[in-house]
Amino acid sequence: MPETPEKTAGALLPLVIVSHALPAEWLGLLDGRCRLLVGPETTVTSGLAPALQARLGEAEGLFTLLTVPVNDALLDQAPRLRVVSNMAVGVDNVDLAACTRRGIPVGHTPGVLTEATADLALALLLAVARRLPEASRDARLGRWTTWRPAGWLGADLAGATLGIVGMGKIGTAVAERAGVFGLRLVYTSRQSRPELEETLGAVRLPLPELLHQSDFVTLHVPLTAETRGLIGEAALRTMKRTAVLLNTARGPVVDSGALYRALREGWIAAAGLDVTDPEPLPADHPLYTLDNCLILPHIGSATHNTRRRMAELACQNLLAGLAGRPLPHCANPQVLT
Ligand code: DGY
Repeated sequence: MPETPEKTAGALLPLVIVSHALPAEWLGLLDGRCRLLVGPETTVTSGLAPALQARLGEAEGLFTLLTVPVNDALLDQAPRLRVVSNMAVGVDNVDLAACTRRGIPVGHTPGVLTEATADLALALLLAVARRLPEASRDARLGRWTTWRPAGWLGADLAGATLGIVGMGKIGTAVAERAGVFGLRLVYTSRQSRPELEETLGAVRLPLPELLHQSDFVTLHVPLTAETRGLIGEAALRTMKRTAVLLNTARGPVVDSGALYRALREGWIAAAGLDVTDPEPLPADHPLYTLDNCLILPHIGSATHNTRRRMAELACQNLLAGLAGRPLPHCANPQVLT
């Protein structure tokens, strides 16, 4: 992981550690503005590769992915750090309080991944509702021997109720898409959203009531102390036996053990997960044994344009932090006060 020569030319430029290798053009905004020390494309364990950790003492900027815990242990090794830029909207991997105490602003990337993530939530909803993975697998395995009137039956969307847990940017984008399918919308949110109630007929409900009424429940809350384990045994038992749970938010919002039991024992009908707890979900995890659980490897924002825009926004946050300017998107704005 050497610093590339052209990036080392300006000896006085600040050193920025980029936790993982990314396509070069995604980091183009940093060219000539800092020295980059870039990690490997993937790391098996979470955190920074040892060669990067060894240079933390010199780093003035840190560009991270959501797999890198930024905590006191890391920050203690980085006394010169002036900005952390996380290439994700979620910042649950970053100890914001620890950064704030040290006066370090933390950048994140809201907005640019809203549409892609909402698209994926709908893709999961449709795939699980219509049992696409099972039907596709059976076709490949030669089990498509005739047109079966009662084979691979799924659930209708039109007239069904979609419960949106968390009506932020992504929840709202999901609501807009869901209206087109004729889904009735209910939602939880700290604040009511009268414009959505008016345009889409969405109804705000307390969580237990939403779980009780919904045919599909889709999660769009950040991972916080309040939302960790939000969907556990009690919540799952409140849902309809025919209901589908979709998670494109963060894995630990759902209790994986309780979900496994719910799917196996029929407390709910099916689940579609783009995020899991733990992540990555090990190949021998019991959830993979269930036909009624579709699991994706955290690809909500994985489109060419979206990931490039996330990286660019992360570069803009990083450069602003290095220049001592307010970050375009700061997750701990109180750092400035
Ligand atoms: C995020 O940005 O927080 C997503 O989970 C990854 O795109």
